[in-house]
Amino acid sequence: LSSDEAALVKSSWDQVKHNEVDILYAVFKAYPDIQAKFPQFVGKDLDSIKDGREFATHATRIVSFLSEVVTLSGNESNLAAVHTLVTKLGKDHKARGVTKSQFTNFRTALVSYLSSHVSWGENVAAAWNHALDNTMAIAFKQL
Ligand code: HEM
Repeated sequence: LSSDEAALVKSSWDQVKHNEVDILYAVFKAYPDIQAKFPQFVGKDLDSIKDGREFATHATRIVSFLSEVVTLSGNESNLAAVHTLVTKLGKDHKARGVTKSQFTNFRTALVSYLSSHVSWGENVAAAWNHALDNTMAIAFKQL
């Protein structure tokens, strides 16, 4: 990512990075098959689990991961670290039977969430698109 793109990703992420539960809720709502991969959530009503401790715990894990990658982005000297983190994420999820198309759907739900909760525009969209192309390419090698 260029430093301009990274700055746009960071400033928009800052606007939603504390909405952990809301973000995971949006992903599960749009793609129930993603929820169904979680032993602790499979078969449960989304609205009844979303206020629970397990839901908050997992939402925080996902959002913290994204925050870590966003923080590292835009700096060449962090490329290897990002690669290592996302490769591990891909491997761990492959082992759980998560598919490329589920990762793509996660991306779609995340971008949809961002586009309605941060100041959105062509430049911000393009920066996220580039960031997500890069990270998905790394994860896909494992999935
Ligand atoms: C853990 C499923 C995508 C970040 C997990 C776990 C499951 C899972 C079943 C284990 C939960 C537990 O044992 O409590 C899925 C599915 C996905 C998906 C079905 C489909 C798209 C993602 C993405 C990210 C992510 C895109 C990052 C942005 C994490 C993290 C953990 C985790 C940080 C905890 C660390 C670990 O155990 O690997 N995921 N996940 N997941 N997931 Fe995902």
